[in-house]
Amino acid sequence: MKRPKVFIANEIPKAAEEYIGQHCDYIMWDFSKRKTFQGIVDNIGDVDGILEVGMKIDRDLLKHAPSLKVVSNISVGYNNYNLQDMKAMGVLGTNTPGVLDNTVADLILGLIISAGRRIVEADADTKAGNWKKGEMDKFFGKDIHHSTLGIVGMGRIGEAVAKRAKGFDMDIIYHNRTRKEDAEKRLGARYMDMDQVLQNADFLVVMTPLTDETHHLIGEGELKKMKKEAFLINASRGPVVDEVALIKALEEGWIAGAGLDVYEKEPVDANNPLLQMKNVVTLPHIGSATRKTRDEMAMVAARAIVEVLEKGDSACIVPELRKS
Ligand code: 8YV
Repeated sequence: MKRPKVFIANEIPKAAEEYIGQHCDYIMWDFSKRKTFQGIVDNIGDVDGILEVGMKIDRDLLKHAPSLKVVSNISVGYNNYNLQDMKAMGVLGTNTPGVLDNTVADLILGLIISAGRRIVEADADTKAGNWKKGEMDKFFGKDIHHSTLGIVGMGRIGEAVAKRAKGFDMDIIYHNRTRKEDAEKRLGARYMDMDQVLQNADFLVVMTPLTDETHHLIGEGELKKMKKEAFLINASRGPVVDEVALIKALEEGWIAGAGLDVYEKEPVDANNPLLQMKNVVTLPHIGSATRKTRDEMAMVAARAIVEVLEKGDSACIVPELRKS
């Protein structure tokens, strides 16, 4: 039986590469070269699987891969998949659910505390030698404990954030397409409609996948409903928040600040006004960035591509592409 062939488009840990090598023939992108669309096309003419991070998977690419059966994302988010084209061309797609939940939730608490207690700002000010004797209230912040955490999108990561917030005696409210009774019992979270969450949250955490429905889910209207002393936290996908509206809200003081790990354009432009704002913590999409978690994500993605190529199925196939 001919072994399936896989194109590995991103650098992965040795263990994941070896695992794929045990089951498939594979080629890897030459990482000394800048990745180009044509370069990728030149590599996928006869592959059965592609292992990648954030690669745009649509008809324009798929038409160059006639034998392709599966694409495996080394990420939980899969807004890089054009699900309609993949369905039409019979290509399955997988992601890496669950393995990064705690790592991303840790960072989100970090954003909440950094933004609320002005940690980055105070650190920079102290490093600049600006600490003057007797200065007691220069960096008054906002209490995290006993404040209200609003979660929009109570999926696995949303629940992991709520679990951590419980340790801070935060009052947890959430909005989600469906009620999460189990999370309500377990975490003491209260379901509310979107407007109520916007109006009551001290820290509003956006944790939805990016879809046509959630694009600019948080825009001017939503930002205007938030409390003046509230903070917006986004570690999901940039375009879930209308960034132009967010910049206006921050410039005009509709909200107190923000903690961001994602942006409408990544990497974020150096002249993006958000980068000049002291009351905005800006991180470079490091939600899942621990060696352990990224290695585990790569292994989950490697196992998923082999499962699909060997058995035609995997628990990691994204819901929209699963056989009904
Ligand atoms: C990835 C992420 O590292 O898993 C996701 O959805 O956003 C991160 O864990 C990121 O997608 C890499 O670009």
